[in-house]
Amino acid sequence: MEEELNSLKENLEKELKNCEKEADVLNVKSKYVGKKSRIMEILSSLKDMTVEDKRKYGSLINNTKKEMENIVNNFLESLNTQLKIDFDDTLDFDVNVGSMHPVTIVAKEVTDILKKMGFTIVSGPEMDNEFYNFEALNIPKDHPARDMQDTFYLDNSMLLRTHTSGVQVRAMEKYGAPLRICVPGRVFRNEDLDASHENTFFQLEGMVIDENISIENLIGVMQELLREVFHQDVLVRLRPGFFPFTEPSYELDCSCLICGGKGCPTCKNSGWIELIPGGMVHPNVLRAGGIDPEKYNGFAFGLGLTRLAMMKYKINDIRVLNSGDIRYLENFKIN
Ligand code: DAH
Repeated sequence: MEEELNSLKENLEKELKNCEKEADVLNVKSKYVGKKSRIMEILSSLKDMTVEDKRKYGSLINNTKKEMENIVNNFLESLNTQLKIDFDDTLDFDVNVGSMHPVTIVAKEVTDILKKMGFTIVSGPEMDNEFYNFEALNIPKDHPARDMQDTFYLDNSMLLRTHTSGVQVRAMEKYGAPLRICVPGRVFRNEDLDASHENTFFQLEGMVIDENISIENLIGVMQELLREVFHQDVLVRLRPGFFPFTEPSYELDCSCLICGGKGCPTCKNSGWIELIPGGMVHPNVLRAGGIDPEKYNGFAFGLGLTRLAMMKYKINDIRVLNSGDIRYLENFKIN
C-alpha cells in the first residue's frame, strides 16, 4: 500500500514537470486526484477494509490524497505567476490594456446566473422576417401593436429584429417542450435618439415552458436575478402591462439606481426604470411554436440589457455605449 501511494505521488510530480499550460495541469489533476483517479478508488475501498487495516492505512491514504492535491494546486499557482511575469516582462513599453464593454459584462453576468438556474443560451438572426418578429408572436399584419415598435424594414422583405422575442418561436420549433432558454442579443428600432433611446441596443429574452408553470415562478426568477446582478435587494414594483404575446402581461420596474429614485433624465423624472416586461406565454404563441397549450404553459420576459448596464454602472446617457469612444468606456473598466 505504502509503495503504491508513493509511486502515485512520484508519477504525479513527474507528469507535472512536463506541463507547460494550465490546461495540461488540469488534465493531470483530473487523472491523479479527479473523481475517477486511483487515489479516489483507494479511498473509497477504505470502507471495506478491516478495522485493523483502516487504522493502519486510513490517515496515510487521506494524507496522500491531500498532499497530491496540494502538489497540483501549488504547481498551478506557480505556473500562473510565472506566466504573469513572462507577460509583464514583454510589456516594457506603455500600452493601453483593453477593457470589456459594460453591456458585454452585464450580459455575461446575467447569462451566468440564468445558466445556474438551468437556462440554455440560444441565439437567433438579427435580420429576421415578419413571421418570427411579429405574426408568430400573436401580432398579425395591421394589428395596432405593430406600431409599439418602430421597425427598420429592409428592401428584401426582411426586417431588423425589433426584439429578441422572435427567438421564442424559433426555439420552440427547434427544441420543443419542456424548454428553458435565454437569448441575449442586439435589437434595432427606428427611434429618435436621446439620453435613453438608441436605435441599436441589447435585450435578453427569457422563456420557460413546462407543465404547471405559474407567474410565481416568473417572479421568483426575476427577484433572484436582480439580487445577484446588483448584489443587493433592489426595490421593484409590478404593474399590469400589455404585450400581444403574453397573457397576462406585466411590467417590472426597479427604482432608478442613478438618482436613487429622486428623478433624473434617465428615468424621465419618475424615479423608476422599466426593466423587465414579461408575462405568461399566450396560447397562440405556444401553438405557433408547435407546442400544445392544453398540456404546457410558460412564462417569458424581455430584459433590457443595455438599460441594466446603465443602471449598474450609473451611465446616464445611452448614446455613449455605441459611441465606441474608448476614453469614455475606459471609465467602466470593471475587469
Ligand atoms: N419584446 C418586448 C419588447 O421588446 C419585451 C417583452 C415583453 C418580452 C414581454 C417578453 C415579454 O418576452 O413576455 O418590448
